[in-house]
Order: sequence, then structure tokens, then C-alpha cells
Amino acid sequence: MRTKLIFSLLLTLHVPNGVHASLVDDIANAISQAVDCGSCHALLVPMKGLAELGNSVFSDTMAAVCKSIGTEDDDVCDGTLGELGPILAHDLRAISPFGRTATQLCNSVFGLCQQPAVIQMKFPVPRAPRTPKMWVSKGGQPIRVAHFSDSHVDREYTPGAEVECTKNICCRNYADKAGKPIQQPAGILASHNCDTSTGLAESMLRATSAQDVSFSIFTGDIIEGRSDTWLVNQTGVTAHLQQFDQEMRTLLDKPVFPVIGNHDTAPVNSFPRNTTSGASSQWVFDTQAAGWSEWLDTSETASVLHMSGSYSAVAPGTNLRIISLNTLYWYKANFWLFDSDTFQPDPNGILAFAAQQLQAAEDAGQRAWILGHMPPSSSDAFHDQSNYFDQIIQRYKNTIAVLLFGHTHKVTVCSRLRQKLLIIY
Ligand SMILES: *[C@@H]1O[C@H](CO)[C@@H](O)[C@H](O)[C@H]1NC(C)=O
Ligand SMILES: *[C@@H]1O[C@H](CO)[C@@H](O)[C@H](O)[C@H]1NC(C)=O
Repeated sequence: MRTKLIFSLLLTLHVPNGVHASLVDDIANAISQAVDCGSCHALLVPMKGLAELGNSVFSDTMAAVCKSIGTEDDDVCDGTLGELGPILAHDLRAISPFGRTATQLCNSVFGLCQQPAVIQMKFPVPRAPRTPKMWVSKGGQPIRVAHFSDSHVDREYTPGAEVECTKNICCRNYADKAGKPIQQPAGILASHNCDTSTGLAESMLRATSAQDVSFSIFTGDIIEGRSDTWLVNQTGVTAHLQQFDQEMRTLLDKPVFPVIGNHDTAPVNSFPRNTTSGASSQWVFDTQAAGWSEWLDTSETASVLHMSGSYSAVAPGTNLRIISLNTLYWYKANFWLFDSDTFQPDPNGILAFAAQQLQAAEDAGQRAWILGHMPPSSSDAFHDQSNYFDQIIQRYKNTIAVLLFGHTHKVTVCSRLRQKLLIIY
């Protein structure tokens, strides 16, 4: 699910004179004048100045700004800025306020710039064979496969708690709301406005198991979705990833081929590239390599560990290669991607991995399914990687049977590659 960008609220605010008075004034002025792409670049100048004073000064000042608007509770402002502030401060220190990366940042964080034009590049792939393999049905039984996605399980979902709350995530008991009358109590298993209860998630897995499938695919987002950055940390996310992995292992009697989602880390959406020193989401890949080892062999779990959560595996009893990609290095709300002015066409080598695995499938006469969380065709994706990914897909379209994604909360299926996306549900 898309991150709610609290920073867009900054555009309508009046900042009181605070501790960092002169910079706060500069930022307040720049914010009040930030109405288009040029003025967004100008706004980054005082924000970079604030970032130079250190992560905590940056986060605290921005949190004060957020609170002064008053549309979010204080704990939401503190939580969100406490998590995302340091990443933005790191970005701003590293880049020019007027470069292409800054334009991407203004697009993603403030919505004030268009994405820049694609940096045109021919992604290197081996030539297609002169006589592509013809795929003809042998008339066997079709296989049945279940696809589920974006389970967003909230382990703190509490039946009877307030549905109409003022936090990013409701149906929970909050200390600062204790004793307040409940307007709309949360249902036993689920309520609109809220994430998935443990009971509902387990019921979904049991229903999947009852479908007599050969295997399942899960296109990511285990962790509760509405909380965004607020209230998630590495300890909690690790425990919740492990818990859902275990539920899939025990409640599904057939293999699952999972994918990493943008919520399956902390802070949310945060996957630093391997060119960023001092930050890493390797702990996510470690956790999932262990949690998925029931369905993946040792070379496949090694790939999860070393290819940023991506892997490729042949579904048992088939000639079908499942290629699971971490698409979050192409995701606009992954703020670590704004920490350099040097353009990286293929961060962490995910595109090259996809091409290699498709070539291996072609060489072996296998068909392939591509799985990912964020669809590279989505407006959440950088146009550059979307373009390069499309080149790979067009090259291997004879091998790829289908591409399956999550993230939009409408399962996204791309088939008949020359046609438009087909979205079901
Ligand atoms: C991390 O999150 C868990 C809930 O998942 C919470 O109990 C714990 O206090 C948090 N730890 C820190 C250091 O914030
Ligand atoms: C990042 O990962 C890619 C793919 O594995 C690799 O080719 C590249 O050398 C790595 N870069 C660094 C700085 O580790």
C-alpha cells in the first residue's frame, strides 16, 4: 500500500518560531512558496541546511512543524518523523538541491515535480533465439494455484476497540484514548478502516489450503499497512514476519512462493541500496531466508540472502520457473533511493538477476512466472527501471507466461504481454 506522505501537509502550514528559529523561518517561507517544481528545489536548500545540523535536529524540527499543523496526533508526528526524518536528512546532505535526484525527491515526497524523463539505455540481454520454442498444450490437467497478497496482519487488532480513531491505524487500544467512549466498536474478526486480525488471516490460510492447489504464491506485505512508519521497528517486524511464515508453514499443506513487500521492513519502505554504507535491510532477507526454507532449497535461500530477497525456483512436479523479485529498489517511497546524485540503472542488480533467470529458463525449455510486490507499471515506480524491466519482459515474452504483483490491493496480473494490464478483483 502507498505510504501516506505526511510531508505533503507541510505545504499548508505556519511554523511557530522554535528552537532553530532562523532555519525554521527559512523553511517556513520556502514551504509557503513551494507550489511547483522550481520552488520545491528551492525549499530543499534550507532543508539541506537543517539536515547539516544532524539527524535529530532535523527530525525534531520537522516533527514540531507537523504538530503545529494539528491534523495528526503528536505521537504520529513524532513517530513518523523519528523514523523517516533521519533518512531524508541523510539524503539531503548527500545530494544537490537542484539535481535530478532532487527532482525525484520533490516528486515522491512533495508531489511538486513530475518524474524526469527516462535515462534511455539499452538493457543488456542476449539475443532472442531465431526459432523460439512453440508452447503447445499437451492436454494435461491444468494446475490450480492460489494467489494471495497484502495480508497486512495487525497483531494488536482488538475486537471492541474504536474503528473511527484519529491514528493511522484503528481497532487498537491506545493509552492516550483509554476511557474515551467508543463510537464504533471493532468486529470480532475485521472492520473497515482497520487491518487484518490474526483470526481473519488464519481463516484465509485455511480456506486456501482447502482449495486443493498445487502451490500458492504470496505477493508480499505481511506487516500491518495503515501504521506506515509509525510504531514499527526491527524487533517487532522480525517477530511478525516469523509469525506469519510459521502460520503459512502450518496452515498450508502445499508449497508457497513468497515475495518481499514494502511493509516487510522497518522503517516502512526502507531498503537501502548496497552502495549506502551504515544502513541495510539484510536482517529482512536473513529472516525470510530462514522463514521460507520449508519451500526453497539451499541455493534458493542463498539467493534470498544475497540477492536482496529475490530468488528463482522450479515449482515441484512442473517445468515452471517461479522468479520472485524484490521490486522495492524501483519504488518511489523508498527514501534511501534519493541518497546519491550518481544514477544507478540497476540498484542491487535485481534487473540483471531477472534477465539471468529468464535466460536460464529459456535455455532449459521452461516457462516462467514473474512475481513481485510493487508492479513496475505502477505510478509508484521509477520510470527508468520500469522502462528497463519492460525491455527484459519484451525480450523474454515467449518464456514468460504471466507476471503477478500485489501492493495495489487489487491483485495485478499481466498476461498477453503486448496488451494492457489486466486487473482482476
Ligand atoms: C518495537 O515494537 C514493539 C511492538 O512490535 C514494541 O513492543 C517495542 O516497544 C518497540 N521497541 C522500541 C525500541 O520501540
Ligand atoms: C551491489 O550488488 C550487485 C548485485 O549483486 C553487485 O553487482 C554490486 O557489485 C554490489 N555493489 C556493491 C557496492 O556492493
